[in-house]
Amino acid sequence: MCRFDPGMEEFRRLLDCLGLSWQGYRRVRKGIKKRIRRHMQESGYATSEQYLVALEQDKELRTECERLMTVSISRFFRDRALWHALEKKILPDIIERNREKIRVWFAGCACGEEVFSFAILWDQLQGQFNTLPVLEALATDMNTVYLEKAKEGVFSRSSLKEVPDEVRAKYFLRQEGEERYRIMPLFRMGITWKLHNLLHDPPDESFDIIFLRNNLLTYYKPEISRPALQKIIACLMPGGYLVIGSHEKVPVNMENMLPFENFSYILQKKDRTQSSTI
Ligand SMILES: C[S@@+](CC[C@H](N)C(=O)[O-])C[C@H]1O[C@@H](n2cnc3c(N)ncnc32)[C@H](O)[C@@H]1O
Repeated sequence: MCRFDPGMEEFRRLLDCLGLSWQGYRRVRKGIKKRIRRHMQESGYATSEQYLVALEQDKELRTECERLMTVSISRFFRDRALWHALEKKILPDIIERNREKIRVWFAGCACGEEVFSFAILWDQLQGQFNTLPVLEALATDMNTVYLEKAKEGVFSRSSLKEVPDEVRAKYFLRQEGEERYRIMPLFRMGITWKLHNLLHDPPDESFDIIFLRNNLLTYYKPEISRPALQKIIACLMPGGYLVIGSHEKVPVNMENMLPFENFSYILQKKDRTQSSTI
């Protein structure tokens, strides 16, 4: 019989083993424990002790366990104020500077809600500008299941709860007989979806905006997230923007990053003309 009903102590050991944060998992612990218990049973481990030892030795087992630890909670236009700032200030600023092409990286994109929110906003900007630069969007996640769902582009009504009716009618097709909505094919174009782990080397590209929301800085221990964040920031163009989750904080010593206006979760990489630090 499987004895992995991890008490707090065992769950904490599992998080430690994977470099994950206790605090980050406080709200989702129950569901995650259930998944891990099933994984342990299916992989033939009778006790959490054996499972934890095996995670140190079996790369495949560990990769699957890491995937099962991921949380996909998201929704369209999460954090309204962010999307307003993007529309009114950040994107006009970037468009002004880059006439030809803008590059955006959605790091840890889950099932694509954030990516398609951006695609919708970008489309809406067509009305404000005569010509827009070409948009190159890279959307990455370490969970293949989430990426496949993102590519499919079908969403529940609850994930669209912040989408106004007229926007839903214009950009989504309701699946027949279901409360599910498919993003129009046009808005799925121009997005590159890739499997990528944020703890590994970032893509060899420079971006105007990086969305890094509700993943690295929430679910990982600071000693793991800090060096990964440094590498991610290195991929931002001077003057580029990093967007983190509204409840997240960057480590204080990010000297090359400035808060954007009064947003604690939008940071701009210094260009040569900016001098203050956070
Ligand atoms: C809570 S969702 C956030 C989705 C979206 N960024 C948002 O804020 O709405 C967290 C996502 O981060 C991904 N993730 C967590 N750790 C990751 C890692 N090390 N590398 C890549 N993706 C990761 C998870 O698979 C999940 O899809």
